[in-house]
Amino acid sequence: INFLVDKTRGEIIDTLIDGLEKLEYRGYDSAGIAVDGDHKNDAAIIVKTPGKVENLKRKVNDEKVPRSTVFDNHVGIAHTRWATHGPATVINSHPHRSDPMGEFVIVHNGIISNYGVLRTFLLKKGFTFESDTDTEVIAKLFKHIYDSNLDEGLHPDLNQLTKLVLSELDGSYGLLVKSSHFPGEACGARKGSPLLVGVKTERKLKVDFVDVEYPETDTTSSTISNENFLLPPVSQQSESNLRTSQSRAFFSEDSIPMPIEFFFASDAASIIKHTKKVLYLQDDDIAHIFDGELHIHRATKKKNDESTTRTIETLEMELNQIMKGPYQHFMQKEIFEQTESTFNTMRGRVDFENHKITLGGLKSWLPTIRRCRRIIMIACGTSYHSCLATRSIFEELTDIPVSVELASDFLDRKSPVFRDDTIIFVSQSGETADSILALQYCLERGPLTIGVVNTVGSSISRQTHCGVHINAGPEIGVASTKAYTSQYIALVMVALSLSNDTISKVERHKEIIDGLQKIPQQIGQVLKLEDKIKQLCKNQLKDKKSLLLLGRGFQFATALEGALKIKEITYTHAEGVLAGELKHGVLALVDEQLPIIAFATRDSLFPNVMSAIEQVTARKGKPILVCNEGIEISKDKLMTTLEVPETVDCLQGLLNVIPVQLISYWLAVDRGINVDFPRNLAKSVTVT
Ligand code: G6P
Repeated sequence: INFLVDKTRGEIIDTLIDGLEKLEYRGYDSAGIAVDGDHKNDAAIIVKTPGKVENLKRKVNDEKVPRSTVFDNHVGIAHTRWATHGPATVINSHPHRSDPMGEFVIVHNGIISNYGVLRTFLLKKGFTFESDTDTEVIAKLFKHIYDSNLDEGLHPDLNQLTKLVLSELDGSYGLLVKSSHFPGEACGARKGSPLLVGVKTERKLKVDFVDVEYPETDTTSSTISNENFLLPPVSQQSESNLRTSQSRAFFSEDSIPMPIEFFFASDAASIIKHTKKVLYLQDDDIAHIFDGELHIHRATKKKNDESTTRTIETLEMELNQIMKGPYQHFMQKEIFEQTESTFNTMRGRVDFENHKITLGGLKSWLPTIRRCRRIIMIACGTSYHSCLATRSIFEELTDIPVSVELASDFLDRKSPVFRDDTIIFVSQSGETADSILALQYCLERGPLTIGVVNTVGSSISRQTHCGVHINAGPEIGVASTKAYTSQYIALVMVALSLSNDTISKVERHKEIIDGLQKIPQQIGQVLKLEDKIKQLCKNQLKDKKSLLLLGRGFQFATALEGALKIKEITYTHAEGVLAGELKHGVLALVDEQLPIIAFATRDSLFPNVMSAIEQVTARKGKPILVCNEGIEISKDKLMTTLEVPETVDCLQGLLNVIPVQLISYWLAVDRGINVDFPRNLAKSVTVT
């Protein structure tokens, strides 16, 4: 949103498309933009298409959208989609409009769960729908409420209108609206789906925080049913309250209005090129850009709503962190970055000389955690595997029982939660809807909640009581790699800091902390296996239809994580199997055709793993062994060995996972798959 900034439509389109390219990893089924028409109240120009942002770029060129028109005030919105309702088609792509004239144009992340009821209602009111999406009802609702208020002789502003629309929506959203009735304005709102506002200006900002304005009177509507759906007009009283008590976010110290640009985004990566000054919106915030100023309102008035200020934060992210550099894919870059990212997770927190761990975000909570009756770790996908990988060392060091839960299953079971529990939420993005819902469920029941999160300012990092940022840097590849190793280390550090003062654990502490010190450099050694792995994939694994990964003890999590990587980006069936369970069923699958990767590094369970490997080789299976140097097994019984350095048992998974990350990567490349955009997946799943 430009205010007093002269830009051509072409430049604005380029900014939007560039932003979408940075966000594409979050959804790449389709993409679209909406920019202003030539005159103040003209309908927006909308261009959208299925497929990647590249297609959109081409379509904008093909349609010859005029580029040279110059605007000083302009609102453009854009979206890349991960399909939930309706397949990826032009018509289902965002932006969605209220009517052919495009009076209201919307982009939306999340799910509107009552869209069926709203759609039926709007159909009765004479609206016709173009798409199968839930989002389109929002656009139509804007128009319906706007028109009904006009009929009553009322003129709600865009913020009031947004508030009324939101009061009818159930579900989750991060949404933006622009309107030909409100040129130069836009509203953004969030509930359960991330949204931030970036600010770029030469203005001297008089305030760097925003007093959030609460509605004086409730403007909530009557309950919706198919038959009875009465949207309330904006009452005169609340209107005047809203108008007079609006709080200003930004204004110059001079009285002359100065140029300013605002950027709404669901992820800072898309705006870092333009500004590092951002304000993270919270659930139920409405951000209204009006006359070159940002105003924050609350959608609903809640009891005990404590958050009355929003701070402008300065991002620490650098543009090069979200660029591929010399690598072919983000995933490859992120695999190779693990020598640094693992170090960054420990930086300033581990005193290697004195064998001490200090986690600033947890320090004052440690006594409470030590007193808890049990620890529950909750996560999804790869993050869940990092919990599994560290569960055992957690129990060993803290003597507190630990259970590990998949967020969706935890909620499905409505698992009991007690005030004296400690619940750790692990999430790379901090925005995974399943994990956020589980967090909300827990917060209502009073336990201590801890976030172990990569994305600073994300929902989980803000909503938990305390936590640890894993500091792995932005992760763009859909298949998580460096976040896994950093989560793993962060969790080990939490376990260590909980038992810092336990005399009986001193030796074990020392051993682990010494082990941690060597990890970054040892990862570097494992990465040297890349050429061998490349050959292995090309010559022996490329055409295989299925793969088993065998592990036990600390390595069971590695087997599961390896299998997930292979499924995600090579589209090959892969299964992580607990080596002890092999003989109870899975052995039936084994023959000379089925490739098996076995994790046989030297820990206390090594003999048991070797016996599972014997069970495989006795059935003509030829496993690939991820093992330490000097393993005693006849080489002709094996497909190959991938030797990794030896470390402490509880850290070995950090090294063992690297070869499988590389296997999945090279297998996908061999099969011609764009590993950064695997089909049907999204990096951050903000829907349940
Ligand atoms: C999605 C991603 C996975 C990720 C999972 C949890 O499914 O594709 O790679 O592991 O979400 O994400 P989180 O951001 O909570 O760690």
